[in-house]
Amino acid sequence: MSNSTTTPPAPADPELQLPSTPACHVPFHRPAIGLEEEREVIDTLRSGWLTTGPKTKRFEQQFAEYLGARHAVAVNSCTAALHLSLIANDVRPGDEVITSPITFASTANVIEHVGATPVFVDVQPDTLNIDPVQLAQAVSPRTRAIIVVHFAGHPCDMSAISAIASEHSIPVIEDAAHAIESVYRGRKIGTISRTTCFSFYATKNITTGEGGMIATNDDGLAQRLRVLSLHGISVHAWDRYRPGEYKHWDILEAGYKYNMCDLQACLGIHQLARIEAGLQLRRKWTARYDEAFADIPEIIPLKRRPDVESAHHLYVLRFATERLNATRDQIMQMLQERGVGIGIHFRPVHMHQYYRRKYGYQPGALPVAEDAGQRVISIPLFPAMTEAEVQHVIDQVRDLVRSLPK
Ligand SMILES: Cc1ncc(COP(=O)(O)O)c(C=O)c1O
Repeated sequence: MSNSTTTPPAPADPELQLPSTPACHVPFHRPAIGLEEEREVIDTLRSGWLTTGPKTKRFEQQFAEYLGARHAVAVNSCTAALHLSLIANDVRPGDEVITSPITFASTANVIEHVGATPVFVDVQPDTLNIDPVQLAQAVSPRTRAIIVVHFAGHPCDMSAISAIASEHSIPVIEDAAHAIESVYRGRKIGTISRTTCFSFYATKNITTGEGGMIATNDDGLAQRLRVLSLHGISVHAWDRYRPGEYKHWDILEAGYKYNMCDLQACLGIHQLARIEAGLQLRRKWTARYDEAFADIPEIIPLKRRPDVESAHHLYVLRFATERLNATRDQIMQMLQERGVGIGIHFRPVHMHQYYRRKYGYQPGALPVAEDAGQRVISIPLFPAMTEAEVQHVIDQVRDLVRSLPK
């Protein structure tokens, strides 16, 4: 039986902490939702139009403008954005899609969803982004797309990747779930490849609770993505039901129910307005962490290359576990006991049960990714952190490393 005093259920994602956690505990993430978002949601609730409509359109226009892209198509997740990008690029059963193993489940799963085969390529040890040299070697006559992942918000080596792709006439799909604010050699991520996919999941740099966006400069592709995102039908909901303007619709292809609704866009519009302020704060906390951990030889930092601007989505600690006589999972446990929320980004996808079983991956197949996957722990990095919270994380990490037998 439920009543108003019942404790709310634990969130499905362990990275999300409920607000009732004790003061000495720093959650992995806490979204920054302002009064503007609350007012916008109330406005929509009272407007009589809840699903895809004027607010979604406004969010798309503002997001495209922010990127400098011709089109932004709003969907209900980055997973949906990636799936639709594969379909819109005509990837079919029997095709191969090259991607990174240092990513979330969905980057690879969507390749399975279209019946294609994911071909995982190892990452570079400094950034954990896909290695262009090995990528070039993995191209086969069956390769139909490349999905690159800008890990933690650090852009991949897009010059090398784009050159390989154009040599073989293969489209590049960018998984920019971590990379809304990222810039590669002066070019905004979202303006470089045929399609770029963004996430507004609860822990992302800006959030709509759940949500995603596909950026493209191709008019025809944008139109197809819009159609695919709403059942494959010819007229979008908002245009279909405008008062006194009912229009018949036709099914152009068997599409999906992937549209973003106006309630989500209400958050996105105001989150986007504060995106630079959030980035500044994450930059500031990143600099604090860099400085605090610089003298700890047992922490190997990821590199930030000089020709990019990172979106600073994650702060990843890579532990020299052999020097600490502790496994990553033990360190992870101890940090949580010390009141530090953590995330693991990522245990490499090709070593997960499904992919091992289906494709027979054995340990050692992609050594850089596998090694990193056993050392990484992400610590809290979000704009709403207080000075005291940042200091708590620093003190606990430093003290824990000091306390472990060397
Ligand atoms: C690299 C990467 N790609 C894709 C996704 C999927 O995003 P969404 O939850 O919006 O589907 C995530 C989410 O965590 C991610 O980290």
